[in-house]
Amino acid sequence: MFARFRRKRINPVLRDLLQETHLSVNDFIYPLFARSGTGIKDEVASMPGVYQMSIDEIVKECETLKALGIKSIILFGIPDVKDSVGSDAMCEHGIMAETVRAVKTAHPDMFVVTDLCFCEYTDHGHCGVIDPVLETVDNDITLDNLAKQAVVHAKAGVDMIAPSGMMDGMIQAIRGGLDAAGFENLPVMSYSSKFASAYYGPFRDVAESSPGKGDRKSYQMNPANRNEAIAESVADEAEGADILMVKPALAYMDIIRDVRNNTTLPLAIYNVSGEYSMLKMAARAGVIDYDAVMMETLLGFKRAGADIIITYHAKEAAEILGN
Ligand code: PBG
Ligand code: ZN
Repeated sequence: MFARFRRKRINPVLRDLLQETHLSVNDFIYPLFARSGTGIKDEVASMPGVYQMSIDEIVKECETLKALGIKSIILFGIPDVKDSVGSDAMCEHGIMAETVRAVKTAHPDMFVVTDLCFCEYTDHGHCGVIDPVLETVDNDITLDNLAKQAVVHAKAGVDMIAPSGMMDGMIQAIRGGLDAAGFENLPVMSYSSKFASAYYGPFRDVAESSPGKGDRKSYQMNPANRNEAIAESVADEAEGADILMVKPALAYMDIIRDVRNNTTLPLAIYNVSGEYSMLKMAARAGVIDYDAVMMETLLGFKRAGADIIITYHAKEAAEILGN
């Protein structure tokens, strides 16, 4: 009677046989940050182990990733010049287009995803074009620009597009733009339930994408809202998203499960910069067993319902998992 659960935990082989959730290197997408120049690999103080890299360094990094069994990356671009609309993002010789071309040329087998947004490219740091009257992002002008940006990435040879700007109707607009340009087979992974989170802080150091003034609360979601999070993801499914996403992950495990239970689409989660940095800093302070806490965290995302994990821990986790 008292051994009902424990008798199945005594033998380690039986424990493995009964394990319900598994983590694999196939689950990971690894984020990389591209900038111009050559031979540049600058570590960011708030994110140990994460770098701004020139394109040649990114191409080299892909070799390391493949050796670890990591087959997919998500790219972010840091342009030389920012302006009010984020022109670099819509330019065939912008940082993102150049990076995608270089990576796909050197590593045709690397699955390359691009983050599709404007905050890294605008001088005001917001995720689209600003409406001067509303003093926030103009939804529909931004939709047109997102579609243009998507086609630029597509022409550069990207394997999947991941729009992260939380504009209403963005999936429909991007799908329409891609289809019209002949890219019907290019999948779209929507950052569908993305919250206005303070956990993005370290990312904005790496990507140099902090809003100059204001915040992103008029387009990203209120962290308090559960029903709205489901509605956002369900709406993106209806607009034609191929994969949905919950972001951030750690403080949103309930949302991951909610979205999982309300769609049959594959689900990604973004284990964001602040979540990564917390573990790094705790490890530095000697207060946690970093590897164990990292693996437990990543496994938790799978258990909550994630199929894909976008994580800065991917290399370290891959080493532990072997391949
Ligand atoms: C761009 C974007 C952000 C992140 C991914 N894409 C930042 C933001 O919305 O401010 C955050 C990723 C992270 O924190 O690791 N819109
Ligand atoms: Zn953005």
